[in-house]
Amino acid sequence: MKVFTAVAATSLAAGASAENWMGFNSGAVKTDNSAKFKSDWLQEFKTAQGLKGAPGTFNSVRLYTNIQSYSESDPIEAFEAAIETKTNLLLGIWTSGTTSIDKELTALQKAIDKYGDKFLDLVIGISIGSEDLYRDSATGRANKGGVGNGPEQIVKFIGDYKKKFADSKLGKVPIGHVDTWDVWPNSTNKVVIDAVDWVGLDEYPYYETGKHNSIEQSGQRFDSAFNKAKAAIGGKPIWVTETGWPTDGPKWDEAQPSVENAKYYWNEIGCRQLFNKVPTFWYNLRDSNGENKQTFAITENLSTTPKFDLSCPKTFKTPTDGDSSSSASKSATASGSATASGTSSATGSASTSGSGSGSSGSESGSGSSSGSNPASGSGSQAGSASSGTPVPTAGANSVQIFSAAFTAIVAVAVGATTLL
Ligand SMILES: *[C@@H]1O[C@H](CO)[C@@H](O)[C@H](O)[C@H]1NC(C)=O
Ligand SMILES: *[C@@H]1O[C@H](CO)[C@@H](O)[C@H](O)[C@H]1NC(C)=O
Repeated sequence: MKVFTAVAATSLAAGASAENWMGFNSGAVKTDNSAKFKSDWLQEFKTAQGLKGAPGTFNSVRLYTNIQSYSESDPIEAFEAAIETKTNLLLGIWTSGTTSIDKELTALQKAIDKYGDKFLDLVIGISIGSEDLYRDSATGRANKGGVGNGPEQIVKFIGDYKKKFADSKLGKVPIGHVDTWDVWPNSTNKVVIDAVDWVGLDEYPYYETGKHNSIEQSGQRFDSAFNKAKAAIGGKPIWVTETGWPTDGPKWDEAQPSVENAKYYWNEIGCRQLFNKVPTFWYNLRDSNGENKQTFAITENLSTTPKFDLSCPKTFKTPTDGDSSSSASKSATASGSATASGTSSATGSASTSGSGSGSSGSESGSGSSSGSNPASGSGSQAGSASSGTPVPTAGANSVQIFSAAFTAIVAVAVGATTLL
């Protein structure tokens, strides 16, 4: 197999913001749907910062909601743990299946009142929404991705946030929207691109059914998707908000979970294209959804000794011609080892590919409107992993916990109907 050097790979980073944060996604609940508390996040954040062999410091975290699980609008306890460990916060506001984000905004206001600058100075960005456009897209509906939200509604929420925090430091943090990579080339969603400071991409080659999604193709699949999204967003910075490869679990089309493959993916996507080049929130340090058959955690029981060597190699296996700016097919042809199929699928339409699904949202969110029960997640389409699936729980309040993504994946796999 031909080995390519890293030198040419840096062009993906063009358009990235100046600070290339490194972190993980972190849901609001554990795999048994119980709430996470401050001590849980303390453990996560300490492990993230202490990971042996890491190619940088994982001292940032992406959250899906600001609301502590099973509360009405109390600030999530992750904030206190972040303050104690100096962990940077990419905040998230859960926006699927709702017409109001008031509870999220209330939780943020309470956090400001309680912690002041100790909290505010850690906030590196906020995502208004997570995979809502995906869930509301043709592919999301086909995959029974659950209730999402449309572009106009997301833009309205962005306006609500700006108005609420116009006189606060929170009004100055860069605002983004996270979604699966394939929603960005859809021109109906352009109003969202226009409304944000940065664009969040969830991208999982693992879930790209029908696109020759073996681990050996993952580098090309990732580059293809990234470049298509990049071409669609007109120069706004890209943050990769979710990506990863499962260490364990069932096969997904040609994609095989294993520790060895997770290491391959870490090298070829993380080291080659993302770490220290693009703000990156890996999926994941800890799994959050017990129903997901795939395990994405790179470490067991939050040990600082990961399942595989996190250090980065000097050379890579993914072919590149050094021009990642637009055409995926171009890069695919450059490859020595790639099969022909990689090339053809790269040029196809994004809608069939899935990437993602996996994870995230899951982690997530807290939702509040009990009427809607979005069941699930994401599909595979393009992308993203996560999707949040709000799982109604029996908490004291009527607040639902979205345990997203992982459930979503499972839902997709089994036909989703059982969750509905
Ligand atoms: C394009 O985006 C709009 C708005 O999000 C959505 O309703 C539509 O289904 C999307 N088109 C496809 C083909 O997914
Ligand atoms: C992780 O924790 C589980 C449950 O306590 C335990 O069964 C397992 O052996 C632990 N794994 C390691 C590597 O310590």
